[in-house]
Amino acid sequence: MTAQERKAVLWDWPTRLFHWGVVICLPLAWWTAEEGQMNRHKWLGYTVLVLVVFRIFWGFLGSRHSRFADFLRGPRTVWAWLRGAAPDVPGHNPLGGWSVLVLLALLLAQSVSGLFNTDDLLFRGPFHYAASTELQGFMGELHEWAFDALLVMIALHLAAVAWHQWGRGEPLIQAMLRGRSEGRSGLQAPVPAWRALVLLALVGGALATAVALAPQPPRLW
Ligand code: HEM
Ligand code: HEM
Repeated sequence: MTAQERKAVLWDWPTRLFHWGVVICLPLAWWTAEEGQMNRHKWLGYTVLVLVVFRIFWGFLGSRHSRFADFLRGPRTVWAWLRGAAPDVPGHNPLGGWSVLVLLALLLAQSVSGLFNTDDLLFRGPFHYAASTELQGFMGELHEWAFDALLVMIALHLAAVAWHQWGRGEPLIQAMLRGRSEGRSGLQAPVPAWRALVLLALVGGALATAVALAPQPPRLW
């Protein structure tokens, strides 16, 4: 990529890493839960959790079009866009921006609730013993509910992407893969890569510390 192209990146690499990381880990998390492979399920869930928490911070610290301020727009802008007005920034469109927030909230609920969950057999999430019986029950329900809601949102997401990509001929997928695409590039140079690396290390480190400090099962004898 030339310096000029790097400057014009729409989705910086951390945003793309987050996206494709989730796309790979989520189906695998479902599959491992179905198969009862709880150790693998746990690690996939941790990965999604770190990616999502990272992405939320990146919504404040990341490159211009990854920031919430760039794509969470007021109701008037959303309404105008629904009535055919062209978006005034090249990133997520005004309605799509809100759907990104919902997807992030659901991914967070899914992965956090797992930390408290149990399969009622041999596996318990690391924070299971830190919670009251009520909270354990609630998190178990949330883990199932959030997954159903995620399936609905992902179906809508894929339908919307497919409509823009093939119905309207806009190269969205290329931009999410390569950072930019024909006729769609960013308005500002991306923030430095070290910022994402430090943030990822901090989020991963915080989760590892919390898991290490989590209460152990009560002794039975
Ligand atoms: C597990 C399934 C998926 C989830 C949970 C998901 C979630 C998301 C999220 C949260 C974003 C916002 C990115 C950000 O700003 O951080 C996004 C954007 C995007 N996703 Fe997905 N995604 C999924 C699958 C896919 C697949 C399979 C494709 C394409 C083959 C795709 C194509 C895109 C594209 C093109 C965008 C950018 C949309 C735009 O230009 O505004 N996604 N997705
Ligand atoms: C985003 C990441 C995750 C996804 C997509 C996911 C998805 C699922 C799904 C689809 C199930 C089956 C639901 C059911 O039939 O009850 C499940 C069960 C479970 N998950 Fe996760 N999970 C994630 C993260 C986690 C994490 C981080 C943990 C704990 C470290 C965890 C612990 C569990 C447990 C203990 C069960 C068994 C529940 C039961 O048997 O009723 N999950 N998960």
